[in-house]
Amino acid sequence: MADPQGFAVLTDDQCVGIAEMDSTHDEFLVLYAQARDADKTSFATCLKALHDHTRDHFAFEEKLMNESGFPATSEHTSEHQRVLGELARFLERAQAGSQMMARAWLQQQVPEWFRSHLLSMDSALAAHLKKSEDPQYVRLRV
Ligand SMILES: [Fe+2]
Ligand SMILES: [Fe+2]
Repeated sequence: MADPQGFAVLTDDQCVGIAEMDSTHDEFLVLYAQARDADKTSFATCLKALHDHTRDHFAFEEKLMNESGFPATSEHTSEHQRVLGELARFLERAQAGSQMMARAWLQQQVPEWFRSHLLSMDSALAAHLKKSEDPQYVRLRV
């Protein structure tokens, strides 16, 4: 999907090679761009969609980590909790009519967070899963 602000497209180096992780990250970027570009009336609804998707996105990765015995599970899960907590607080403010902080967070913090999380923690999880010969993870390889 084209994005005039040049962020909401999953680039090749951001693909981790685990099909459901890559498709989830792609969806995250689409919902991110919709929230970032939303007008005043639809902003809270778009941010709620991003929040709910992110909650499921993180829960899915945490399930993969727990079930596969990923060594950095607690560190990765704490980072998810931190970001989901921020997103929930901004959503609450946006639903109460205050959008400015949430919009600034989306524009200034999220892109860099997403890139670095993907290239560090999510890539480490994907590399761990790709080493496994368990058929349930082999099936996820791109
Ligand atoms: Fe992720
Ligand atoms: Fe993650």
